[in-house]
Amino acid sequence: MELQPSISLKRLNTFGIDVSGNVATVNEIDDIGRIADATGQGAAFILGGGSNLLFTKNPEGWIWKNELHGIEIADESDEFVWVKAGAGENWHRFVLHCIERNWGGIENLSLIPGLVGASPMQNIGAYGVEIKDVFQSLEAIDLTNGVLRTFDLQECAFGYRESVFKHDLKGQFMIASVTYRLRKKKHELKLDYGDIRKELETQGISQPGIADVSRAVIAIRSSKLPDPNVLGNAGSFFKNPVVSEAIEQKIREKYPELAAYPAGEGLKKIAAGWLIEKAGWKGFRRGDAGVHSKQALVLVNYGSATGAEIWQLSEDIVRNVEDTFGVLLEREVNIL
Ligand code: FAD
Ligand code: EPU
Repeated sequence: MELQPSISLKRLNTFGIDVSGNVATVNEIDDIGRIADATGQGAAFILGGGSNLLFTKNPEGWIWKNELHGIEIADESDEFVWVKAGAGENWHRFVLHCIERNWGGIENLSLIPGLVGASPMQNIGAYGVEIKDVFQSLEAIDLTNGVLRTFDLQECAFGYRESVFKHDLKGQFMIASVTYRLRKKKHELKLDYGDIRKELETQGISQPGIADVSRAVIAIRSSKLPDPNVLGNAGSFFKNPVVSEAIEQKIREKYPELAAYPAGEGLKKIAAGWLIEKAGWKGFRRGDAGVHSKQALVLVNYGSATGAEIWQLSEDIVRNVEDTFGVLLEREVNIL
């Protein structure tokens, strides 16, 4: 455990927002009791890699920074391996660790920033795969009594960028480890989303394996998503809105080129990036707060934007998109 009162959080959030706060590092589960004793307080919130957060002010209380490490095989069969990873493991390094061992299922989730422990929080997803597809269980510490509890797939109530930890159990649990069920053979490659096939073709690969898919996803992501080490951001700032087919049709009458996909019976998921671009915001900049020029769903910090400035920009976009298309955008990023 380490206690760092009043330090800059600029390097602890990928938006690069310069706020300060008290940070307690959790290196082992027993640290939780020690930190509570030493600070006289519980966790104000749990921090992972800070890649899905926007700080709009200096956070109060103690931030508990998750650094619970370790990767182990929990179980194995002829076909599957159950891998248990500590919540503080870097997600992308974990993906590469699995690919090196030919364990398939998370290759489409390559290069997503952040830590293993946050992967169930919003059921991370990309290129046709979500964490729920390979999720077995997780262990989380109940912050109200310090008891370790196991959650199975059903209990996590995963949805599109959703889980029980963002709703009914918000702030109550610290995820300590996650176990994924991965395939040792007969990999089920998901190649139909976006430009994966095109990218594999460009690379001259006709019989792809999981490592090829990972490299293709990395190439596609790198071509449009800003690297947080270069340009502050937290990935998609908004969710893609799910609307009724009737609403989607109404917009399509005016804009036949609308980017939208089936999302269950009678529902369509509209590309929020398309709405924001069409409303004229792509590449917009106000001070150091902006809308990424290659992906309008991503808000960026050119250097010294405050969280309040980024938030205000997001608010202006929400209002304008609602006025233009009658669709209300919901923020994906956690606002603090
Ligand atoms: P943080 O930002 O630190 O935390 C996020 C939330 O989870 C907070 O509410 C925090 O309190 C909570 N939390 C974190 N760890 C724990 C824990 N151990 N226990 C309890 N609560 C916890 N996301 C996608 O789904 N798909 C993408 O394709 C994608 N692309 C991205 C691209 C870029 C360039 C960036 C910057 C972000 C992207 N994201 C994407 C968003 C982000 O990477 C994910 O949401 C990621 O899982 C966040 O992990 P983190 O460790 O940084 O979480
Ligand atoms: N689009 C535009 N203009 C833009 C951006 C996108 O017209 O500026 C259109 C594209 O042309 C395409 C469609 O929108 O037709 C979808 O774009 P893209 O494939 O880039 O994906 P996205 O819907 O914008 C989602 C996730 C990403 C994830 C990608 C790939 C959400 C909120 N975002 O983005 O996740 O990586 O798909 O699966 O669901 C994140 O959550 O932080 C994130 C980056």
